[in-house]
Amino acid sequence: MIFLPFLLDILCSLSFSNTAVTAALAIYPSQPIGLETLLNNNAVVDFSGNGGAFNGSLLPTGSFSYDGLTFSLPSSWDDAADNNVLANGQVLKLDKPTFAHELHFLYAGDGDNASPTLSVFTLQFSDGSSYTINGKFVEAKSWWVWANVNRAAIITPYHFQGGTKNFNATNIYEYSTAVPSESPLTAIVFPSQTTGSRMHVFALSITPSSTDVNSAALALSIRRAHFSQRWQLVNGDRVQAVQVTIANLLPGYTLAQSPSRAINSPHSIEIVGDGLKTLNTGNFSRLVPGDQARVDVFVTGARAGGSAMVNIRDSTGKIIATSTALPTALLIEEYTPDTTSLSLHETPSWWNSAKYGIFIHWGVYSKPAFVNRAIFSWMSTEFLQAPPNQYAEWYDWDIRQPPDASNPTWVHHLDTYGKDVAYDDFIPQFTASKFNASAWVDIIDRAGAKYFVLVSKHHDGFALFDTGNTTNRNSVQLGPKRDLVAELFQTAKDEKPDLHRGTYYSLPEWFSPDFAKYGFGSWPGGLAHNAFNTTPALEPYTGRLDIDDYLTDLQLPQMVDLATKYDTEIMWCDIGGPNRNLEFAATFYNHAMSQGRQVTLNDRCGILPDFDTPEYATFGSIQPTKWESSEGMDPFSYGLNLATNASQYKNGTTIVQSLVDITAKNGNFLLDIGPTADGEIIQPMVDNLLDAGSWLEFAGDCVYDTDYWFPASEDPKPVNGTPAARFTTTPNTFCIIAFAPPSDGSLVVGKRLPLMLGDEIVALRPSGPSSPLAWNISASGDLTIQVSSADVEGVRFAWPFRVS
Ligand SMILES: *[C@@H]1O[C@H](CO)[C@@H](O)[C@H](O)[C@H]1NC(C)=O
Ligand SMILES: *[C@@H]1O[C@H](CO)[C@@H](O)[C@H](O)[C@H]1NC(C)=O
Ligand SMILES: *[C@@H]1O[C@H](CO)[C@@H](O)[C@H](O)[C@H]1NC(C)=O
Ligand SMILES: *[C@@H]1O[C@H](CO)[C@@H](O)[C@H](O)[C@H]1NC(C)=O
Ligand SMILES: *[C@@H]1O[C@H](CO)[C@@H](O)[C@H](O)[C@H]1NC(C)=O
Ligand SMILES: *[C@@H]1O[C@H](CO)[C@@H](O)[C@H](O)[C@H]1NC(C)=O
Ligand SMILES: *[C@@H]1O[C@H](CO)[C@@H](O)[C@H](O)[C@H]1NC(C)=O
Ligand SMILES: *[C@@H]1O[C@H](CO)[C@@H](O)[C@H](O)[C@H]1NC(C)=O
Repeated sequence: MIFLPFLLDILCSLSFSNTAVTAALAIYPSQPIGLETLLNNNAVVDFSGNGGAFNGSLLPTGSFSYDGLTFSLPSSWDDAADNNVLANGQVLKLDKPTFAHELHFLYAGDGDNASPTLSVFTLQFSDGSSYTINGKFVEAKSWWVWANVNRAAIITPYHFQGGTKNFNATNIYEYSTAVPSESPLTAIVFPSQTTGSRMHVFALSITPSSTDVNSAALALSIRRAHFSQRWQLVNGDRVQAVQVTIANLLPGYTLAQSPSRAINSPHSIEIVGDGLKTLNTGNFSRLVPGDQARVDVFVTGARAGGSAMVNIRDSTGKIIATSTALPTALLIEEYTPDTTSLSLHETPSWWNSAKYGIFIHWGVYSKPAFVNRAIFSWMSTEFLQAPPNQYAEWYDWDIRQPPDASNPTWVHHLDTYGKDVAYDDFIPQFTASKFNASAWVDIIDRAGAKYFVLVSKHHDGFALFDTGNTTNRNSVQLGPKRDLVAELFQTAKDEKPDLHRGTYYSLPEWFSPDFAKYGFGSWPGGLAHNAFNTTPALEPYTGRLDIDDYLTDLQLPQMVDLATKYDTEIMWCDIGGPNRNLEFAATFYNHAMSQGRQVTLNDRCGILPDFDTPEYATFGSIQPTKWESSEGMDPFSYGLNLATNASQYKNGTTIVQSLVDITAKNGNFLLDIGPTADGEIIQPMVDNLLDAGSWLEFAGDCVYDTDYWFPASEDPKPVNGTPAARFTTTPNTFCIIAFAPPSDGSLVVGKRLPLMLGDEIVALRPSGPSSPLAWNISASGDLTIQVSSADVEGVRFAWPFRVS
């Protein structure tokens, strides 16, 4: 194969006439954009503004390739010259206006730890229009996160801080975003935030649209053919999913140009070559200019380091295009406890399709059930990022802080229970006496959730499962004297077998004497100091057994038991920190695989994650990598918090709209509830869950098993009270979900959508889909759908429209 990295001419050689010839698809183009004029920071001298710096010897130089994209990094990293752009509102003008398909960034935020980076980039176009990337609350990733290894384009083992090495993995990340291509891109305006965590850009690369603007033919390219580690069982054999992403590199889009510039009939994708067999083609039927489609093709026979070609067939079965040779990757038979093997793991298809899970914070802290958020003004902060010690499940920590009358939890404890009541005195009052696992799984199912994640052990060290010879600090020996994890899991397995079952697990503990050796930050380990100055000054840590090592004798065996005895499908670690999770992950993945199951690990296990977990926060725009946002139904707490009035809970509207917003950006929503100490989900929480569930019952087709729409997650320019809307796709449909009811008989969307002549649009509603609705598109690209009140009868919370 001849490598033709940037010959756009050949991208346009496809024709959809009956005389179509099979054309080789060009390699997906990407071209570095020079940043020379803007360089203003030296990452190896002072990256962070307080002396933190990379070791330049560990960073790659020159041409750098990642995910099939080409970037240009400095030819050397030394003290002499600036090598990255610290964003402060700069305007990068392109040499010449360019129709663009996608932009790619190598970036890092410079905040310590996980502090969020505001990263609003604005794109400017020839026609005077502009487009904002990451317009809302954003967590661009910081260069390092305490005690966690992130997935990143460039990973170094440490950075320098104050003359010493900080051995937290330190990274540079890649982020790609679609670019509207109705008009040529002229300039990129960098974020202007210069306080807090600041955005640094190391390299930028652009994927131009096909330059032949007037071409009537398609300009297809394979963005990526990813031989994944996801699979399905066919006759007992694992069949590998290859995710193929097809781009239509033509710029802009108007309805009149279809069909020659768009795909608007069923097409299928197969993979051939090198012993490969396609068992199940990937299918799609819609691909307009500027858009991308992602499909799974199921294959057997992939080798490591082999090569394959992607064929695109039209509805008559004719091959209309063939890719250049693409590298294949083996489906792993057995994971080994090292980053090379484990880094290949990824979220399973069921998790990607599920979109919605219920998080359950339940434990000893459910008894005092208190955190007073009224005095905190965090809700007004830009990021909705909650400082962690303000959750009800942090009660144990809060009452151990030095005597402090400004700490509402400390005062509440003194007033309500008095200074002689220690945290462990609540253990017998955590009774679970009314816990009915059937009732819980029934509520979760009727809520429309596809999985749940139960806290199996929080930072207080009290486990809700049988922890064997690791400790007696659990619900089997103490409190309820029941194995709560087993009851919930077994009941779910028996009664709702399609509901997936996950466990939260805190790696560190606050006050375990055995954790003292590993303690850090807010998890010091060691017995708690009594903050009310009673004697004894050190409080008990009930249930401890004599073990030698926290990691070897407690943490690892507990996690392995959750994986192998309880068959958890999601290990939702918290905090990170010292761990033996390379061993754990290999065991977890292999055990599940031996049972024909696929499981997943979040980004707080200290090792390579499958997905990111913003907390009480969401991403402002599409993240091509998988993520899951978690948030309490209580705006202030995961654990039950009696200080919150139920009228403040997330209700049907806020649950549905959060779920849809997150889904449109390629995330999942893990909505948390906090049951009572005696095991009941309180009625206001049940009501709100069921409200959202009633919406999903008729609108689920626009949420479950959908994908994000490559060009945009939402209507970027709501016009005069026009309802904001979010978009999702499936291989054969497109959904518009409006966040306010259509008014004056119509719904208007101010974004060019992938609609084509002949498309049918229906409103989804409780009584079933409406009849097809009349629609049109204005010269400026706005969509108007005519909707009468009868068409959306009974719809509350969000108004879904399905295009097919
Ligand atoms: C930077 O990394 C290089 C390559 O590992 C190493 O040789 C060098 O000692 C490091 N620099 C410092 C100051 O530690
Ligand atoms: C990670 O960073 C924290 C905070 O600076 C530091 O205390 C800790 O020692 C670092 N971890 C390692 C392994 O260097
Ligand atoms: C694609 O369509 C073919 C033919 O209708 C069907 O057999 C196959 O299962 C479909 N593939 C997927 C992944 O749904
Ligand atoms: C438990 O909940 C189920 C489902 O709601 C109900 O049918 C059953 O009667 C309950 N059991 C008890 C003991 O209350
Ligand atoms: C707990 O039991 C397991 C299995 O019998 C054993 O391998 C392990 O050493 C025991 N741990 C302790 C701390 O006694
Ligand atoms: C909770 O809020 C509702 C509605 O605002 C109000 O009527 C009620 O009095 C409040 N309850 C408490 C205990 O504050
Ligand atoms: C739902 O909650 C939102 C945000 O708090 C609020 O604006 C709205 O009025 C609530 N809806 C209902 C029906 O209570
Ligand atoms: C589209 O439909 C709306 C509502 O019926 C109408 O007001 C508008 O004139 C139509 N626009 C075009 C371009 O036909």
